[in-house]
Parts: sequence; C-alpha cells; structure tokens
Amino acid sequence: MKRSSKYIPALHFHWLTPWYDTIMRRLYPEQAVKTALIAQARIQSGQRVLDVGCGTGTLTLLIKRTHPDAEVHGLDVDPRVLAIARRKAEQVGEVIVLRQGTATDLPYLDETFDRVFASLMLHHLTREDKRRALAEAFRVLKPGGELHVADFGKPQDRTMWLISLLVRWAEEVHDNIRGLLPVFMAEAGFRSVEEISRYRTVSGTIALYRACKPTGEGACSHHQGETS
Ligand SMILES: C[S@@+](CC[C@H](N)C(=O)[O-])C[C@H]1O[C@@H](n2cnc3c(N)ncnc32)[C@H](O)[C@@H]1O
Repeated sequence: MKRSSKYIPALHFHWLTPWYDTIMRRLYPEQAVKTALIAQARIQSGQRVLDVGCGTGTLTLLIKRTHPDAEVHGLDVDPRVLAIARRKAEQVGEVIVLRQGTATDLPYLDETFDRVFASLMLHHLTREDKRRALAEAFRVLKPGGELHVADFGKPQDRTMWLISLLVRWAEEVHDNIRGLLPVFMAEAGFRSVEEISRYRTVSGTIALYRACKPTGEGACSHHQGETS
C-alpha cells in the first residue's frame, strides 16, 4: 500500500487515541457538525457511501443509523482507530464495512460510490496529499456523485481569526485556513464546489463543503430543479 506508513493520528499522538471520542464530544460541536454534514448529502436509499479517514467511526455509524438502506464503508489508515470503530459497530449492532488504507490511494474501483465524506481528515494531509486524496475521491465517485467535507476553513470573524493564528501552525492546517480546500477540489475536477455552513469552535472555524463530480453532460444532480 502506497504512502500509508507515515500519517498524523486522530489527536496527533497515538497515546491520545483512546480519548478521541471523549475529547470530541466535550470540546467540539460534534453532533451538530456531523448531523449537518449528513443532512446536506441527501443520501438516498440503496446508495453506496464512503467515509474517508473515518477514525473511530462516529460519522460512519451515524450515516448508517440515519440511512439504514445505504451501504456504508469507512476507511482509515490507522489500525488503532479502526479497532475502536469496529468495537463501536459491534456494540450498536450496525453493519458497516471498515477497511484499512490510505486516502491518497483508495483501495476501490473507479465510480464505486454515490457519496464520499471526509470529516476532519484533510488537515492531516500535506498539500500534495490533499490534492491526491481529492483526486482519489473524484475517481471513486460515480458521475453525479458528491463529496462532503467538514474541516478547518477560512476564519469568519475576528475571534476565529485570532484562534487561527495559533492553529495554522498545527498539523497541515494552513492551506485550510487560507481557504484553499475549495480551490483544490475544483482542481481535482469537482464542480459546484460550495461552502454550505460554518461552525465556530474552540479550535477555530470548521467549514462544511459540498462538491459534485459532474455527469457526462456536465450536470450536478443537487442543482437539477434548483432555481438559483
Ligand atoms: C481528526 S480524525 C477524524 C476522524 C473522523 N473522520 C471524525 O470526524 O471524527 C482524522 C483521521 O484521519 C486519519 N488519517 C490521517 N491520514 C490519513 C490517510 N492518509 N488516509 C486515511 N486516513 C487518514 C487519521 O488516522 C484519523 O483517524
């Protein structure tokens, strides 16, 4: 498997991984952000969905719980978070397909998925790998399929901007804060790239994005029938 040996773990250090869910619940508007991300994806019955960088599987399981008829896959590079995700899936009795692999070389055939999610994953990747991961998301999506991303975004006010001065040096966040994720998405071939909403958090602005892989005719299904 290419380029999966070096990666940034969920909370930067492996020893913090067992605390990931507790910290996210307490310090981050996790339920609100994940619920909004799923809502904007308008998943239909029978669709195949991939959660890239699924971590401990909180979003993956929420997708399955809210859309029991969807086929839900989660992929992460880190076997330790996947072990937690597996345990959680067993505890709640949900059937999701979990797999180890890297976002930059997805182990799926072209045009496999209707929706691809990436929640708080892209800021773990270098600029080059962000571009690779977005190109991979594009490849595995069916024409008309959609990418839904939650990650650090451009600060929307003075407080968020002040926080961003500290956060931008962490991990690989700086391009997010400069507002480059939508640019990288468009470069990967996505169309109708939009920021749908923003959340103020203790670590700065979290933006929710939607982007679509156009059909042969260049259409994006979420724009069909819309007047604006
Ligand atoms: C902050 S956690 C987010 C987990 C989950 N998506 C969430 O929203 O709670 C980032 C995750 O990205 C994973 N990750 C980092 N680099 C990766 C890569 N190259 N391919 C796949 N996953 C990766 C980490 O192992 C970690 O689980």
